Amino acid sequence: MILAIETSCDDTCAAVVDPADGTIVSNVVSSQGIHDRYGGVVPEVAARHHLELLDAAIDDALASAQIGLDDVSLVAVTQGPGLVGALLIGLAEAKALALVRGLPLAPVDHLQGHVAANFVAPEPFEPPFVCLIASGGHTLLARVEDRDGFTVLGATLDDAAGEAFDKGARLLGLPYPGGPALQALAAEGDPHAHEFPTAAGVAGLDFSFAGLKTALLYALRDDPEASKPDLAASYQRAIVEQLARRVERALEQTGLERVAIGGGVAANGPLRERIRGLGVTAHIPPMALCTDNAAMIGSAARYVTPLAPGAYDALDAYATGERGL
Ligand code: KG4
Ligand code: ZN
Repeated sequence: MILAIETSCDDTCAAVVDPADGTIVSNVVSSQGIHDRYGGVVPEVAARHHLELLDAAIDDALASAQIGLDDVSLVAVTQGPGLVGALLIGLAEAKALALVRGLPLAPVDHLQGHVAANFVAPEPFEPPFVCLIASGGHTLLARVEDRDGFTVLGATLDDAAGEAFDKGARLLGLPYPGGPALQALAAEGDPHAHEFPTAAGVAGLDFSFAGLKTALLYALRDDPEASKPDLAASYQRAIVEQLARRVERALEQTGLERVAIGGGVAANGPLRERIRGLGVTAHIPPMALCTDNAAMIGSAARYVTPLAPGAYDALDAYATGERGL
């Protein structure tokens, strides 16, 4: 069995994945909650909480898989990108476990993890496909030809899509994380009440959300009495439209007729609907596999060449970005 660990941001995650076919045997996410009061993730606080929560998350993942460490043949861990302090907790834990047990260790790229959420059993989505990864830290369009990598077709020029949700939510007085709160408020509003920008002027497959955030700021400033649900619905629509139109463009450019989505923003209901309605074969993973989790890291680890038992020194350099995989 693969024991997978993910600590790149504020979710402390451990999972057990069957290397034979990518079946998720257990998938534990311990959300830190604590960051709500700061209106965003505080890196130092996230790292300290990973330290407190990770042993318990691993114990839970093993217990719910009904296995012990003797049944683990490979340890997988997110090597980056992410918050350095947070990553280092996962890496130190993975190294210690693997070293003591004499196991190989698979360093996994976090974004490849989001792509690999599409490869889990029982219905893996086969490449080639276009993959939209939209989270709090990243927004990119990937061309996936094989299970072990992707090429970047486009990325954000400023904020990530999840960041746009979080910052918009903050302007509207909603709690962190903003995505789910903004989606809930938007459900009561009119998405056509305001015409917010969709970065139509940005050519190619790149994204831009900075103008949208400013537009919301000005709308609130110009009319403090404006309906918050209408603003939320219009703001969400602008994000969803920008994402969906770039996906359409990517499908046209590549000639591919298959699309998958991943990352926390892929949990957004209207986005899921819009992508389903594109008229191509769409793979929309369950919500728990869209937001950060360790099962996706275990899934990606099946296609990574692991470091031999004991030869893990390079890992810290991966986390701090001194080395790429
Ligand atoms: O992938 P993820 O769990 O962590 C990162 O790697 O960033 O993504 C978290 C992001 C946050 O910005 C959060 O607001 C957003 O995903 N998010 C959503 C929804 N659920 C989470 N955005 C829009 N609608 C949602 N339902
Ligand atoms: Zn993520």
